[in-house]
Amino acid sequence: MKILAIETSCDETAISKVVATGTIKSPRFKVAANEISSQINIHRPFGGVVPNLAKREHEINLPIILANLDKKGFKNKDADLIAVTVGPGLEPALWAGIGFAKNLAKEYKKPLIGVNHMAGHLYSPLLPQKNKAKLSFPAIALIVSGGHTILLNIKDLTHWKKIGETVDDAVGEAFDKVARLLELPYPGGPEIEKLAKLGDPKAIDFPRPMLKQLNEGNFNFSFAGLKTSVLYYLRDHYPSADKNFAANVAASFQQAAVDVLVKKTIRAAEEFGARSVILCGGVAANNYLRSSMKDQCKTSGFKFFSPAFEYNTDNATMIAAAAYIQYLQKKKLPIKANGNLSI
Ligand code: KG4
Ligand code: ZN
Repeated sequence: MKILAIETSCDETAISKVVATGTIKSPRFKVAANEISSQINIHRPFGGVVPNLAKREHEINLPIILANLDKKGFKNKDADLIAVTVGPGLEPALWAGIGFAKNLAKEYKKPLIGVNHMAGHLYSPLLPQKNKAKLSFPAIALIVSGGHTILLNIKDLTHWKKIGETVDDAVGEAFDKVARLLELPYPGGPEIEKLAKLGDPKAIDFPRPMLKQLNEGNFNFSFAGLKTSVLYYLRDHYPSADKNFAANVAASFQQAAVDVLVKKTIRAAEEFGARSVILCGGVAANNYLRSSMKDQCKTSGFKFFSPAFEYNTDNATMIAAAAYIQYLQKKKLPIKANGNLSI
């Protein structure tokens, strides 16, 4: 099945072409095109994504990207299925993709399927990558992005139960807010990671929120308090004569966030008898988080799965993967923007 997928839930305008084969238990994906146009430079002066600006940019970019794609893989109009993200995300941004996809489906006379963005992240480890091992179930998945921090107990590719999520800020949001406190540019996640490499992760003992509650079987997260601790620390210690000051704050914050994510995920994997651990979503692009989770999985005897680096942050290839699985499941989502769509 040739799938043309469109993703506009936040500030990346993305279109992919994927050829999907195989069954619902063992889907396979060949990526013919994975185009992403980032709006970072447009939103950077505002320190975050401005929804209506994002919508306007998506509307400008989508036809340009599509026209450039016609020579890649299959001809655009030969797609068997058009897929589009319907949520969660910024609603004005979602509208742009949905409106474009609807017109395309009409023009090409092809079926249109609405896709859950978080399901896209969840399936991203199934896309081509170096790790050829097959996912074994049950699995625990940690999805970490700018808007979500979710732990899922996964029975198979189409059945799961949410066992934990953030009660306030998502971990990506915490990275972005701490970066802003340190006067680093948007998006802050990669900037914190870069700066943290120069600092001492043990320099400051920031709190590890919700770790104590693990003993009560609580798999929820909270990152607002950790961000506030950084705020108070800066208020009390800045300016500082220490030339490593900012790097130490970045490294210590990252260490606290990673500690909580890894400990909770591993404990969930133990408690629910998982064979694999899946780590995905934009924050999974953080090498320190990936290597910490991978090492801990090895120590604890779990197989570790994460997507190829380019499929961690938002892309339309993961939307095509989710579209194929949803299509085989005959699962239909309304073709309507739903900013709060849950997984
Ligand atoms: O999945 P994603 O691309 O978009 C959403 O669905 O939200 O995730 C974006 C989030 C942002 O908060 C960004 O700062 C964070 O992922 N992020 C990172 C890194 N790369 C992206 N956070 C920490 N370290 C990184 N290297
Ligand atoms: Zn995302």
